[in-house]
Amino acid sequence: MKYETVIILDFGGLYNQLIARKIRDNNIFCEVLPFDTPLSEIKAKNPKGIIFTGGPVDATDEEAPLADKGIFELGIPILGICYGCQFIGYSFGSDVMPVELNENSVYNAEFADSAELFSNINKNADVMMSNTYALKEAPSGFEITAKTENCIIAAIENKSKKLYAFQFHPEIVETPLGNQILKNFLFNICNLKGDWEMNEFALNMIETLKEKIGSKKALCALSGGVDSTVSAIMIQKAIGDNLICIFVDHGLMRLNEGDEVMEVFKKFGLNVIRVNAQDRFLDKLKDVIDHEKKSKIIGEEFIRVFEEEAKKIGDIDFLVQGTIYPDIIESGTKDKAVIKSHHNVGGLPDVINFKEIIEPLRDLFKDEVRKVGLALGIDESLVFRQPFPGPGLGVRVIGEITKEKLDILRHTDFIYREEIKKANLDRVIWQYFTVLTGLKSVGVFADERTYAYTVALRAVTSVDAMTATWYPIPFDILDIISKRIVNEVPHVNRIVLDITSKPPATIEWE
Ligand code: XMP
Repeated sequence: MKYETVIILDFGGLYNQLIARKIRDNNIFCEVLPFDTPLSEIKAKNPKGIIFTGGPVDATDEEAPLADKGIFELGIPILGICYGCQFIGYSFGSDVMPVELNENSVYNAEFADSAELFSNINKNADVMMSNTYALKEAPSGFEITAKTENCIIAAIENKSKKLYAFQFHPEIVETPLGNQILKNFLFNICNLKGDWEMNEFALNMIETLKEKIGSKKALCALSGGVDSTVSAIMIQKAIGDNLICIFVDHGLMRLNEGDEVMEVFKKFGLNVIRVNAQDRFLDKLKDVIDHEKKSKIIGEEFIRVFEEEAKKIGDIDFLVQGTIYPDIIESGTKDKAVIKSHHNVGGLPDVINFKEIIEPLRDLFKDEVRKVGLALGIDESLVFRQPFPGPGLGVRVIGEITKEKLDILRHTDFIYREEIKKANLDRVIWQYFTVLTGLKSVGVFADERTYAYTVALRAVTSVDAMTATWYPIPFDILDIISKRIVNEVPHVNRIVLDITSKPPATIEWE
């Protein structure tokens, strides 16, 4: 490997890819590998540091994931986080015991002066713990370097063996000094320089794709959003004209969106086929109310359309998708709960007639995808387009989806976007859209009683869509938007404002 590398051994924790992105944020190349990756494979990558992630079980459990203990003899600095900490302690003879946690699990930790890992930080700080097990004693040769009220062994280190471990999570915002602690590990202990940039990700990925696809053909699902566009441009750079893109107009797009995105694709010289499948999607969605069902139907129909197009073209082995990491995590994995099925992950049918699905961005977060997009020379106007979900307005019509409801939603969304742009808030707000709630209520218009739809306005700021904060649009702008929508859009007589953050809500309503 050309760049200094950190290996992250994945023991199944919820935040593992977040650790990876924190490492990348420090301009360091890292790879997430399964916990049981053979030692020879790890050594071949010549890592300068190794991180053991958290995981859902107790290290003494019979089924507990265990790495090859030979890893401790490599002389490479190792940082164990949460389960990783217990695994290190247990491997060196310490026992593990259950601990009680408060609901929010944020504790004040006291760090030892002598600790290399906590050398240049405040000696008292909040840390987030999500573990239900902890070490019973420090293993021999290890020093205890942090404690909290409920956990007397919150961190340990063995300087001569270069082993460092703690029970809390440095990768999430609830541990405010987490970044500095990771930096201490990376730069002071592993002596890394930070020689990697996001454009290296693009260059490496293009090479990998070249090797993988060779002279075969690939079909790319293009939606007009930044994720699929960045994926397509990377594949185009790898295989040129052997990339055929399909843009499915499923009738769930915003106003004029189909024509607009086709124009943009033309500019990039992408080979795009537009499939008008509006009626087909609406037929399948008729009478469907359950949001998971809707997502699955949209996901399946997407794939069926691609399969049919692939058959027409013939000789296509690969399907390319712009899936990014939050789509995967929210759709649930083997040991992580389903939050909602994103159409391109949990919404995929079980049987797919492609040799392989390629998802070049599956380990990245949205803001990282944007960095890759800029590195590839894609226009800022496209790179900073607000995210738009693959199922489109389908996740914004609550209840049954009909053409009439979609037209109402499209119109309200258009007005909302126009006013946000006029107010110069379009680059400030991460995502803003209208939702056609399933609710109708009584109103009055021109002295007549109305019984019409309630439309919700949603606006959030976010960094990576994993969490989001509702955005306080000034009242005078809200007033303009509200008046315009009820005056200009038939069948809408009430506007409400969604003022919830994520969590507990998600960004989209479905
Ligand atoms: P949520 O609603 O889960 O959304 O907070 C996080 C981000 O993902 C987008 N989103 C989707 N994107 N297919 C997609 O391609 C989907 O099914 C889907 N659901 C949500 C959402 O717009 C937000 O940016």
